[in-house]
Amino acid sequence: MKKQSINNIGVFTSGGDAPGMNAALRAVVRTAIYCGKGVFTIRCGYDGMIDGEIEQASTRSVSNIIQTGGTIIKTARSERFRTREGRRQAFENLQKFGIDGLIAIGGDGTFRGCVELNKEYKIRLIGVPGTIDNDLYGSDFTIGYDTAVNTALEAIDKIRDTSQSHDRFFIIEVMGRDAGFIGLEAGIAGGAENILIPEIKTDVSRLCKDIKSLFERGKASNIIVVAEGDDAGGAYEIGAKIKEATGIDYRVVILGYIQRGGNPSAKDRLLASKLGYWSVKHLIDGKTNVMVGEINAKIVLTDIADTFGRKKPVDMNALEMARVLAS
Ligand code: F6P
Repeated sequence: MKKQSINNIGVFTSGGDAPGMNAALRAVVRTAIYCGKGVFTIRCGYDGMIDGEIEQASTRSVSNIIQTGGTIIKTARSERFRTREGRRQAFENLQKFGIDGLIAIGGDGTFRGCVELNKEYKIRLIGVPGTIDNDLYGSDFTIGYDTAVNTALEAIDKIRDTSQSHDRFFIIEVMGRDAGFIGLEAGIAGGAENILIPEIKTDVSRLCKDIKSLFERGKASNIIVVAEGDDAGGAYEIGAKIKEATGIDYRVVILGYIQRGGNPSAKDRLLASKLGYWSVKHLIDGKTNVMVGEINAKIVLTDIADTFGRKKPVDMNALEMARVLAS
């Protein structure tokens, strides 16, 4: 069967912003134009698709953004797109602009939206993984993750200075509602004495024993890195439990949204450029319903439903190693 060619590509960012989204957008727009396709940016994710906030892009409209954080075309988590009516309006707007191929830059929520849209309407689409959480199956890394880990690490290093100087115990909470990738890597690189992540059940009594024994052995500078989605709770809850069991005083630092902002690292800019470029190439080549990712330095395509339907595992060996190194 002859594959239908794409005329106009729509590109949008959706879900939590991530450093490198702009670099991906730049790559998509410039590759599409180079390949002779029309390219349209859709503002504010699915909300903008529903409201018709769509405009034609040019190579110049993505100038000077490769180095910037956030997303110049804005992003949102759209409640309206979860409804059939919202998706109908969105599709009608795509048709008005002659958009017959979509490139979605975002995380699991964004890709769930793609699957729903595709069940109801025939439109070719490709996902580009953009989230600091790194929790998408089908790519070793997601755009924004490397920058977020480095941002968290810089903060951990600074807090370590105070922890060391005052012999103080800190609990630092990093982002990761369902995934511990940031906590694990920033924790290891920052020499955290304990790392708590959602993928592993936290044994609070063992943790308390650990902290107590470290203190008794004279290691008063002590840092726990906890991912916000840990089953034992966030930094405040964990601190209270430890205090109750050991009497040891603590300070809490919640890193929060600083992890989502800032200029993308070189790694994130490169990844975003590659995945943006290949998303267009594959879309034109007739691929659809896939996410473009990178595994072992090779570009790979994964069924878009698998990117959130299958669990990307954290490196358990790394966690065990972190325990040994922090002893
Ligand atoms: O971008 C992913 C993420 O940072 C999660 O780690 C976090 O739980 C969530 O987004 C919070 O974002 P928002 O407040 O935008 O929903």
